Amino acid sequence: MLVIIKNNYEEMSNEAAKIVADRLRKKPDLVLGLATGSTPLGLYKELIRMYKEEGLDFSKVTTFNLDEYVGLPPTHNQSYHYFMYENFFNHININPRYIHIPHGMAKDVDTFCDWYEKRIIECGGIDLQILGIGANGHIAFNEPGSSLGSRVRIKTLTEKTRNDNARFFASMDEVPKYAITMGIGTVMDSKEIILIANGEKKANAIKDAVEGPITGMCPATIVQMHRKVYVLLDKEAASKLKGDYVDSWEAKVFS
Ligand code: PGA
Repeated sequence: MLVIIKNNYEEMSNEAAKIVADRLRKKPDLVLGLATGSTPLGLYKELIRMYKEEGLDFSKVTTFNLDEYVGLPPTHNQSYHYFMYENFFNHININPRYIHIPHGMAKDVDTFCDWYEKRIIECGGIDLQILGIGANGHIAFNEPGSSLGSRVRIKTLTEKTRNDNARFFASMDEVPKYAITMGIGTVMDSKEIILIANGEKKANAIKDAVEGPITGMCPATIVQMHRKVYVLLDKEAASKLKGDYVDSWEAKVFS
């Protein structure tokens, strides 16, 4: 694990973009795992800038998103499909045929989940997974109590996560109750992971994830078992860490 602490959100986002761009330049047909939420917005913005100004080429990239709400059509402005096109895919030269996002309207959810898991393998596995973290330590929609070996499946969202997301919906009743999510085991199969977190709200979850004991009650703690994970933070998210950490990914000192 390489913990990198940057001064602010913009620097954190740009650092994450540098790692993604480096991997993409080395492997143009990169298989990229993507996340939604507010945290990766700065990363996507910087990657879009790199595409427009530096010619960073996404034409051969395959993507797999971590999760999607069950019951929201792709056109719903709170669906993760909508989010990804609006904030990233519409602004780069990605081939839409290579984009994968769990299908929230799938008729047979279990069959879909099996297909998604197999499709990742068919594409060669995820080279680099972008990961956010919930204030309760969730990764993707793997809430506290999830099996650390779990695969793609349907999950019930906790009241905490539903409340955290309620601000995006007209009323609490409209906040979805279920999501399709990559499992913790699925995420852990990625060859590399970049976990990004900013702001004081994430400080406790980051403290547990980086320095706490590994437990399904804080799913992000599993990254301690991964061979190549960058934990990329701003100062606030890192404020409760006790260890000595670096300020650049170029340090390349994995512990
Ligand atoms: P956020 O969500 O980026 O909106 O804070 C992260 C998460 O819940 O995984």
